[in-house]
Amino acid sequence: MKNLTQELNPKRIDKFKLDNLVIEIGFGNGIYITSLAKLFPNKNFLGIEISGESIKKLSKRIKNENLKNVYCVKMDAYWFFYLFLHDNSVDEIYINFPDPWPKKRHIERRITRLENLYLFSKKLKLGGFIQIKTDDLDFYNYTLENAKVLNSFNIKELKNFEDIVRTKYETKWLLMGKEIYVIRLYKVKDAEINIKLKGIRRVKDMAHVKMSRFIDVSKLEDKVFRIDQGLVVKFSKSYHREDGWIIETLLSENDYVHYFFTSFRRKGNEIIVSISPFSEVLKTEGILKFLNWISLFP
Ligand SMILES: C[S@@+](CC[C@H](N)C(=O)[O-])C[C@H]1O[C@@H](n2cnc3c(N)ncnc32)[C@H](O)[C@@H]1O
Repeated sequence: MKNLTQELNPKRIDKFKLDNLVIEIGFGNGIYITSLAKLFPNKNFLGIEISGESIKKLSKRIKNENLKNVYCVKMDAYWFFYLFLHDNSVDEIYINFPDPWPKKRHIERRITRLENLYLFSKKLKLGGFIQIKTDDLDFYNYTLENAKVLNSFNIKELKNFEDIVRTKYETKWLLMGKEIYVIRLYKVKDAEINIKLKGIRRVKDMAHVKMSRFIDVSKLEDKVFRIDQGLVVKFSKSYHREDGWIIETLLSENDYVHYFFTSFRRKGNEIIVSISPFSEVLKTEGILKFLNWISLFP
């Protein structure tokens, strides 16, 4: 892939493919991924994070240390893997001290839930591995159990493992005298069970739709509507503009959350409804459905 900027904009890429690809999920302050990148200049590194602060910290390290083989993206790892990676294309995945979500009702948020491990395994090359480090024994056992269910991995529990560098959380837990558990899951075959992954479908073009009459957009503020199965919209603040209105819009499509401004623009006798040019969105079927739905709003 040519001309990649080091922070990827997922709204502007189609698929992501680099040779010798190593991924760190939830890189925190970026010390681990940059240390690996310096040790292995012939590999390409991608950090995936949901935290904007972490993206800033890693971008700073990339710039200060002039690293050409490190990229990052602000996105939930599930969706990056689901939307942008080819199957059998990743060499290594590192997950260091993920949130253990100890409460029973939060277990589905764990990064190693069955659906995620299944997806990660699909994207790994044969012989590639996922390395997970944690201080939480319950989380560790949960991960181990899920890996066994998939039957796609050769599971190696690494005892007394000396890693190349300690992450921020690792240092914190070691100072508290906690034990660290490390596991490597080597992909030896495709998963034996088939898991239906929640997904969204991308489309090529975004439509503009027309409304024959103007609705009072301010009345949509703070309202929530279920448009279809898995498609829910919540409106927030609206703003009056010279040629119409825009309104802050949060659209949840099978749990992928789009955030954008919906624009209602007067053109002659018609109102054109579209995603405001101030917003960038992933073009998906859900957004098209939303635009059609709003254009027919009673
Ligand atoms: C407990 S911190 C560990 C940070 C770092 N790995 C370390 O060891 O110091 C967990 C990190 O994972 C990130 N994270 C949590 N869920 C994520 C997801 N679904 N996709 C990507 N990053 C995620 C959080 O923003 C946070 O920075």
